[in-house]
Amino acid sequence: MADAPAPVVVIGAGAAGIVAAGHAARHDPVLLLERTRDGGRKILISGGGRCNILPSKMAPEQYVTASSPNIVRNILRAWPLDAQREFFEREVGVPLALEPESGKLFPASDKARDVRDGLLAWARRQGAQVRFDTVVTGFEPADGAWRVMLGNGEAVTARKVVVASGGLSVPQTGSDGTGLRILKALGHTIHDTYPALTPLTLDPPAYAGLAGVSLEVTIQAGEGRSAFVTTGGFLFTHRGYSGPAVLNVSHLVVRARLARQPAPDITVQWTPLDADQWRSELAGGSARIGNVLKRHVPERLALVLLAEAAVDADRPLSQLRREERERVVAALTRWPLRATSDEGYKKAEVTGGGVALDEIVPRTMESRLHPGLFICGEALDCFGPIGGYNFLWAWVTGRAAGLGAGGG
Ligand code: FDA
Repeated sequence: MADAPAPVVVIGAGAAGIVAAGHAARHDPVLLLERTRDGGRKILISGGGRCNILPSKMAPEQYVTASSPNIVRNILRAWPLDAQREFFEREVGVPLALEPESGKLFPASDKARDVRDGLLAWARRQGAQVRFDTVVTGFEPADGAWRVMLGNGEAVTARKVVVASGGLSVPQTGSDGTGLRILKALGHTIHDTYPALTPLTLDPPAYAGLAGVSLEVTIQAGEGRSAFVTTGGFLFTHRGYSGPAVLNVSHLVVRARLARQPAPDITVQWTPLDADQWRSELAGGSARIGNVLKRHVPERLALVLLAEAAVDADRPLSQLRREERERVVAALTRWPLRATSDEGYKKAEVTGGGVALDEIVPRTMESRLHPGLFICGEALDCFGPIGGYNFLWAWVTGRAAGLGAGGG
């Protein structure tokens, strides 16, 4: 009797790996190897347990990479958003619902577990075999195939290998960078990795008294055409700042820290009103300035902003001197966000940096260095903003790698 054909081995049953395994299994035997007991742990903790599975709009320009943004565009184009929605709703069996105020898509059940369990069941229906509690310690080319070494000393022969082992963020979910280390040893360029989408800290924690205060803001880093601008939620924490807008800008602070350079100037506009609109709002009248600000921002924050501008909250608008009004306007529209550090990988939603995108074929995710090796998900040098963009990246690259590795 002929030996069974060597399977496609997928390393890592996270978002990208499960999708890759299911797509490859339509054509080939597939073995999905996962170090944790149950896989997909980031899916489980994502979106506060609700899993923001996709955004409602594509935004290729919002992804961050040290490689070419054109490659990112090419990769994302391969699986339109409508087709992804259809995949989840029809094939995986997870109906989605739009959260209109944020433009984010969640499972209609609001349960991340439905996404993780639904995806694993879908991959198995396609024929993928899943092995949990199985650590891959290395893999190497062997006679036109691959030898994949496991933590228990076993070696598996693979026709093709798909690396979907993620990056370095939240290591207790199973991703500790093993895949990146092996790919580096195989000659791949790994752009410097760093925690991204992570809360920022201020030491001493001057705003700990505001912990829990949250509001919608616009944050700007840098000036002019290269300025980075992001709008979204802002949350004061006991140690500093969090919320989607802060997370989106955090990589600039992290990268400056790692490069031992000063962080870029980051400013917060606390309300939709710009400086001129605030000047009109504060132009005159008998209202006390503290009461006016309280209509636009939470009271505790209003009092801190006024204290920093050295203006008494009880002052009537009509009595404000021009310099005082300007100080308040500046505090409301260009508040300098001071951060001394960040929460690092233990809280980072993703890893910045990773495998250089010009070393993979965008259509199939195959390595240009090693035919038969495919790379997908967070291990690649690309991440997106908060809003479902990182799962989108995992789904698109996972599918492309699965189709590339299976049947080819
Ligand atoms: P991921 O890290 O998910 O999976 C890698 C898998 O490989 C893991 O299961 C790991 O155990 C396994 N593995 C690693 N090394 C191995 C080895 N040597 N042997 C065997 N197995 C190995 N994104 C989004 O779009 N919407 C959201 O709501 C959120 N929310 C969110 C919250 C939090 C707290 C975090 C930390 C992250 C998010 N994200 C998110 C980001 C999102 O979770 C992330 O982008 C994807 O999970 C990345 O998917 P991957 O499959 O590439 O890696």
